Amino acid sequence: MPKFNIAIDGPSGVGKSTIANILADHYHMIHLDTGAMYRCVAFYLIQNQVDIQNEQELQEALNCIDIHFDGDKVFLNNQDVSSQIRLNEISMAASKISALPLVRNKLVSLQQDIASQKGFILDGRDICTVVLPNAEVKIYMDASSKARAQRRYDEYISKGIDADYEVIFQDIVARDYQDSHREHSPLKVADDAVVIDTSDMTISEVVETIENIIEDIV
Ligand code: DC
Repeated sequence: MPKFNIAIDGPSGVGKSTIANILADHYHMIHLDTGAMYRCVAFYLIQNQVDIQNEQELQEALNCIDIHFDGDKVFLNNQDVSSQIRLNEISMAASKISALPLVRNKLVSLQQDIASQKGFILDGRDICTVVLPNAEVKIYMDASSKARAQRRYDEYISKGIDADYEVIFQDIVARDYQDSHREHSPLKVADDAVVIDTSDMTISEVVETIENIIEDIV
């Protein structure tokens, strides 16, 4: 396993996970999808009707949450929730609960523990700025909201899932606003991250660009 970490930040639907998976394969690293962790917490809090305004109740709920990954599957307290956490309702809820300091404290320290062994690719919103500010490779992937909405729409259609472009676009705009305007660890570009605007790039072009950055830095 390589002795370096890769941190990737960027807005919803920019393709961070897809790129991180390809890079993980290529460099024999492990991809940690931190967004999936926020989604698991959101799923648990909704299922258990936790009052998120009540800090004690929230902390007790967080203490009961165990998240682990097995390949591309995500387990919440040993239940495979890989598909449920991708529902639209959970996307919005994850964005909302990710603003809560107690939730962030728990997940950020978990992510830091995991990555301390090196050889990890973490993608999310605060990886370059908060979780791994000393990561050897720091990337900020960007794309216009229209390009991201179109990609998500195409993905749904190719999977035979009914989709409405305008609904997807509005959802992306709302989550961008929520993720970048929260008080704690908002989505922003780290000063020393390399910014890649992927709006007009193919997946292989993005991978190649990041591979060149890795070769230069490591
Ligand atoms: O990457 P995603 O869409 O699966 O993430 C779901 C939500 O989780 C996103 O709207 C914001 C939050 N998130 C975060 O605050 N910090 C991260 N490192 C990853 C995700």
